[in-house]
Amino acid sequence: MSLSSDQISHHIKTAQAKVAIIGIGRIGLPTAILFAKSGLSTIGVDINKNLVEKINNNIFPLEDEPGMKEIFNNVMTNKTLSATTNIQDALSRVDVVILSLPTPMNNDNIPDYSSLESVGQQLHDFLNPGSLVIVESTVEPGFVENTLISIIEGNDKTLEAGKTFGIGVCPETANPGEILKDFKNLPRLVGGINKKSQDLISSIYSHVFSVDLISMPDCKTANAVKLTTNVFRDVNIAFVNELALLFEKLGIDIFTVLDAAKRKYNFQVHYPGSGVGGPCLPVNSYQIINSARSNFLPLPKLISTSREINEKMPFHTLKLLNDALNSINKKLEKSTIGILGISYKPNVKDVQLAPAEKIISKLKSLECNVKIFDPYFISTNVFSINSESKLEDMVENSDAILVLTSHQEFLSINPEIFPKLMKIPLIVDTRGLFDPKELNKLKIVFRGIGRPN
Ligand SMILES: NC(=O)c1ccc[n+]([C@@H]2O[C@H](COP(=O)([O-])OP(=O)(O)OC[C@H]3O[C@@H](n4cnc5c(N)ncnc54)[C@H](O)[C@@H]3O)[C@@H](O)[C@H]2O)c1
Repeated sequence: MSLSSDQISHHIKTAQAKVAIIGIGRIGLPTAILFAKSGLSTIGVDINKNLVEKINNNIFPLEDEPGMKEIFNNVMTNKTLSATTNIQDALSRVDVVILSLPTPMNNDNIPDYSSLESVGQQLHDFLNPGSLVIVESTVEPGFVENTLISIIEGNDKTLEAGKTFGIGVCPETANPGEILKDFKNLPRLVGGINKKSQDLISSIYSHVFSVDLISMPDCKTANAVKLTTNVFRDVNIAFVNELALLFEKLGIDIFTVLDAAKRKYNFQVHYPGSGVGGPCLPVNSYQIINSARSNFLPLPKLISTSREINEKMPFHTLKLLNDALNSINKKLEKSTIGILGISYKPNVKDVQLAPAEKIISKLKSLECNVKIFDPYFISTNVFSINSESKLEDMVENSDAILVLTSHQEFLSINPEIFPKLMKIPLIVDTRGLFDPKELNKLKIVFRGIGRPN
């Protein structure tokens, strides 16, 4: 189907437009579900055959996204959503193409846009003239204008951005674990290669989402806003991590400080921890750094230093663990370490770039016996370890308990379990989950990030 921009606009308003979401992972699938819910015929496209099969068999894969499963069931019953691995076929049937492809980084912390680049080539080969392309993936400012468009246009210029196809961005800012809530509340940023593209994107997003749309002057400014919000968090976490390291030595409790500091109206609280993980924050800081590097500009110092601090935290965690064990005449080498929580943040099933990975890998290199308890990873193989099904099984006979994530479920743990099941109870808490005074009363050896020894 080949439509003019006016026709697409009309089709959106009358819910006749057909949409393909390419990349139906953590962000793309919920997006596809909401597009389908709005009545638009939606095809999810992914190279992951298992995922596509699951979706077509009505199996919803994101158990940790509240409220999403019910909408998924509805759109599958109504047949407004389907999934395929065949991008050529999908592109031949749609007017609007949304890219929700991964944008990770390589081992040298350089952003990796290879998925977008390879799909860009497929768009060159198969995109219907007259279509609208919307990039939801997080990219550094200028990637769409300088790289993606030239790939889609190709050397033969059969397609021309802004003329024979529309293109723009609507960077996704939703938070895993609360995507539906964020879809209902967070404003969306819209940037286009020209006004027509921007107007079309606004018209389709206002059809699907009932949130404010913020018009950006161009794609790169919209992408800069998305990165700014996440880099803000990465830098602020580094700030409290730096204070935590200092306060530990000064005998000051960082959590007591933050609880009081946050009562001041212009203080926005962030918390220290064993590192910053996930698919967004670390990558987004490196995307900003890379945008300076690739434009031959000085690298942003504050952001680079923040990355260094946050990347040191897993090693500081190991140091606390080692010190704590030494204080009871035990060695870290060959000890049994029980890990409470491995997700990169609370209440999600996600270990991408989680500090737990680095910590566990170091513990294994020291021949430690590592046990994991995480309600999102029950009796499963994760980091090449079979995780426990019960908290008690993880605690029993451990030399130390290392708290790496403070899932909601952990708030109700009664610390009496530790002296009951451990010979010499020892806890290293990197997330401020436990009250040190309470642990002290139970004679539990304790270390915590940002807490006096
Ligand atoms: N997860 C988050 O917290 C979050 C939040 C906001 C924005 N984002 C951004 O959204 C984008 C998508 O992130 P995600 O977390 O959903 O990633 P994801 O890894 O969960 O999903 C990406 C999907 O794309 C598929 N894919 C990879 N290459 C493909 C190709 N060539 N063709 C078709 N499908 C392909 C993968 O199989 C996967 O299912 C990224 O740019 C990310 O930075 C993520």
